[in-house]
Amino acid sequence: MSKQTPAVTSRIPGFYRERIENRLRTMIETGLLSEESIRHLEGGGKLTLDVADHMSENVIAVHGLPLSIALNFRVNSSDVLVPMAVEEPSVVAAASNAARQVRMTGGFFGEATAPIMTTQVQFDDVPNPAEAKVRVEAERALIFQIADEAIPGMVKRGGGCRDMDVRVLDEPNGVLVVHLYVDVGDAMGANVVDAVAEAVAPRIHELTGGSIGLRILSNLPLRRRVQVHCDVSVDALGGPELADGIVKASRFAELDPFRAVTHNKGVMNGVDAVALAMGQDWRSIEAGAHAFASMSGQYKPLVIWSRTESGIHGELDMPMAVGTVGGSTRVHRGVRAAFELMGIQNAGELAIVMGAAGMASNLAALRALAGEGIQRGHMRLHSRKQEVQESARVEAKKVERGGQ
Ligand code: MEV
Repeated sequence: MSKQTPAVTSRIPGFYRERIENRLRTMIETGLLSEESIRHLEGGGKLTLDVADHMSENVIAVHGLPLSIALNFRVNSSDVLVPMAVEEPSVVAAASNAARQVRMTGGFFGEATAPIMTTQVQFDDVPNPAEAKVRVEAERALIFQIADEAIPGMVKRGGGCRDMDVRVLDEPNGVLVVHLYVDVGDAMGANVVDAVAEAVAPRIHELTGGSIGLRILSNLPLRRRVQVHCDVSVDALGGPELADGIVKASRFAELDPFRAVTHNKGVMNGVDAVALAMGQDWRSIEAGAHAFASMSGQYKPLVIWSRTESGIHGELDMPMAVGTVGGSTRVHRGVRAAFELMGIQNAGELAIVMGAAGMASNLAALRALAGEGIQRGHMRLHSRKQEVQESARVEAKKVERGGQ
């Protein structure tokens, strides 16, 4: 990860025990936050009605969620603070805890593919789909030119149309679909590729005949993927039984879609929480993740764990359509603050951190399930939180009374 300031550490022991204002002060002391973001967070991080009214329609108020920082993450040999917005208790603590265990063996390592989004143009009632396919493929260069002319800004920034597929979905009824693969740079890219699909449709129609159908991105961006891996030692996990238990749990998910979906829900606990904090389209990430998990014909886990001599090895592979420009990244002050804290440079780095957060969440869940069970872990965390809150209340009272 090319990084922010070298001084930043994501290892902040006792952070959870601090009062909110002290936690925020620690974040401010990293030097990552702009004055504007500091003011915004000190004010509680509320979205103003004015901004909300620009983001959606029929707005009557704003809807809040906790904004937290998951700690201990080391990704591609750099520490990274991981903002999370999530309503479910334990997600942030569990991810931070798992990241601490992974950190002991170097942290998470990942890579993202080039930011290639997929867009689809549908044609119906095409007279001879097989022949139409050949005609469309022969016009590849011209179609790419029309595509690029529709997105001059993106082409100027180094993006543009890269590849094409023509798929006959239903020969007798003449259903033919053209995929265009577009490099969208650091954007999530939905608008960019929708524009491409609409621009190329008329020319392709001249080649296919029939009628033009849908022109829209696919939320299964198979060519825009993130892969993350990590190793965790037996000692960090708390013993060989836990290591074996995690691997057996992973195998269970590989064998059974009923388990795989819950396993993946645990992965998405981390991915979605970061997506929300970073203003990403989490519905699209969710849709892509589950479609990808089903690609083999059986719904499969997005993270797989195997046993090594010294512990376990984890691998995550999933589509990840995220952006660092456009969308709410520009308008939402809290999202901008989250970007400053995470300090990533581009969409690929964001995808890798999100993959790492998903892996950490999955690891924490499997470790709990393979050990004491999820309920006891939840209850322990809950009572620890209550103790911390109680002692913070006592401290606050003391300060009010003049430090007696
Ligand atoms: C709960 O939010 C997520 C888990 O169900 C995930 C899993 O079972 O692996 C604990």
